[in-house]
Amino acid sequence: MSQVFRRHHNTVARATIISGVLAVVALALGGSSYTRSAWWTQTNEPPDQPVAFSHKHHYEELGIDCRYCHWSVTESAHSGVPSAEVCMSCHSQIWTNSPLLQPVRDAYNENKPLVWNKVNDLPEFVYFNHSAHVNKGISCATCHNGIEKMHLTHQSQYFSMQWCLDCHRNPEQHIRPTGEVFNMYYKTPRNADEMKALLDKHGIPYDSNNIPRNQLELGALLVKHYNIHKEQLSDCSICHR
Ligand code: HEC
Ligand code: HEC
Ligand code: HEC
Ligand code: HEC
Ligand code: HEC
Repeated sequence: MSQVFRRHHNTVARATIISGVLAVVALALGGSSYTRSAWWTQTNEPPDQPVAFSHKHHYEELGIDCRYCHWSVTESAHSGVPSAEVCMSCHSQIWTNSPLLQPVRDAYNENKPLVWNKVNDLPEFVYFNHSAHVNKGISCATCHNGIEKMHLTHQSQYFSMQWCLDCHRNPEQHIRPTGEVFNMYYKTPRNADEMKALLDKHGIPYDSNNIPRNQLELGALLVKHYNIHKEQLSDCSICHR
C-alpha cells in the first residue's frame, strides 16, 4: 500500500483516521447507511457562489450545450468552469443591468478571474480524468445526474471508491454512444427499431440478426466498439498514481 501512495501517504493516513472516526460516530448514530445519506455527505447543499448561476435556465430552458461553458471536457482531465468572458458573450447584450450579474461585469471589466467554489471535489490522492470518460461514451448525466434541473449547483452523488469501481468492473451498465454524452435526456432504446435507429445514427456497426435487446447487450457492443479494456480498470494504480 505504501508503495501505491508514496507521494500522498500522509493524506491517505489522515483520510483513514478520519474515516475511522466517522465510522465510530456512525455506529453511535445507529448504522452505517447514515454516513452515506445525502445529509451526511452534503451532496444536496450547494456551496456559496459569487453569482447565482442556474443550469436549469441555461441548459434546460435555453438549450446551451455543456461544451459552450465547459469546453475543455473532451480534451483534458479537468472540465474547468467558465471565465467571465464566456458569460459576457451573451450578458454584454442580455440582462446587462441585472444586479445578479454585477460580479461577472466587475471581473470582466477589471480583468480579474471570477472565482467559483468547487462543488465536486475528490481527495487529492485520487486521479480522475474527464476526457477519458466522455470520449468513451460515459455521460455527464451518469455522474452529474439531474444538473439540468438545478437552480443552484450541488453534487449529484457522493463519489465513493465503491461507486467508481462499480462502473469500472461493469461499464456495460452505463455506456452510451459518444454522440449522446452531452444529452441529459437520453434514454436506452426500448425495442429493436429504436436500437437500430440509435446505432445507425451514430454509425456503430452491429449484426442485424443479433440486435442488442437491452442496456447490457448494447453496453457489451459499445465496450468492444470503443476498445475498452475493463480488466485493467480495477487496478489501484489507475486511480491512485
Ligand atoms: C452557460 C454556461 C454553462 C453551461 C451551458 C453549463 N454549465 Fe456547468 N457550470 C457553469 C458555471 C458558471 C459553473 C460554476 C458555478 C456552479 O457550480 O453552478 C458550473 C458548474 C458545473 C459543475 C460543478 C462544478 C464543480 O465545482 O464541481 C458541473 C458538474 C457542471 N457545471 C456540469 C455541466 C453539465 C453536465 C452541463 C451540460 C448539461 C453544463 N454544466 C452546462 C456554467 C455552465
Ligand atoms: C448563450 C447565452 C448565455 C450565456 C453564455 C450565459 N447566459 Fe446567463 N442568461 C442568458 C439568458 C438568455 C438569460 C435569461 C433567462 C431567463 O430569464 O429565462 C440568462 C440569465 C442569467 C441570470 C439571471 C439574471 C437575472 O437577473 O435574473 C444569471 C445570474 C446568469 N444568466 C448568469 C450567467 C453566468 C454567470 C454566465 C457565465 C458562466 C452566463 N449567464 C452565461 C444567456 C446566457
Ligand atoms: C465518470 C464520472 C464523470 C463524468 C462522466 C463526468 N464527470 Fe464531471 N466530475 C466528476 C468528478 C469525480 C469530478 C470531481 C473531480 C475532482 O475533484 O478532481 C467532476 C468535476 C467536474 C467539474 C468541476 C471542474 C473539474 O474539472 O474538476 C465540472 C465543471 C464537470 N465535472 C463537468 C462535467 C461535464 C460537462 C461532463 C460531461 C461532458 C462531466 N463532468 C462528466 C465525474 C464525472
Ligand atoms: C459510469 C462509469 C464510470 C464511472 C462512474 C467512473 N468511471 Fe472511470 N472509467 C470508465 C471507463 C469506461 C473508463 C475506460 C476508458 C478507456 O478505456 O479509455 C474509465 C477510465 C478511468 C481512468 C483511466 C484514465 C486514463 O487516463 O487512462 C481513470 C483514472 C478513472 N476512470 C477514474 C475514475 C474515478 C476516480 C471514478 C470515480 C470518481 C470513476 N473513474 C468513475 C467508466 C467510469
Ligand atoms: C476507479 C477508481 C479507483 C480505483 C481503481 C481504486 N480506488 Fe481507492 N479510492 C478511490 C476514490 C474515489 C477514493 C476516495 C473515496 C472517498 O472520498 O470516500 C478512494 C480512496 C481510497 C483509500 C482511502 C481510504 C478510504 O477508504 O476512503 C484507500 C486506502 C484506497 N482508496 C485504496 C485503494 C486500493 C488498495 C485500490 C486497489 C485495490 C484502490 N483504492 C483502487 C478510487 C479508486
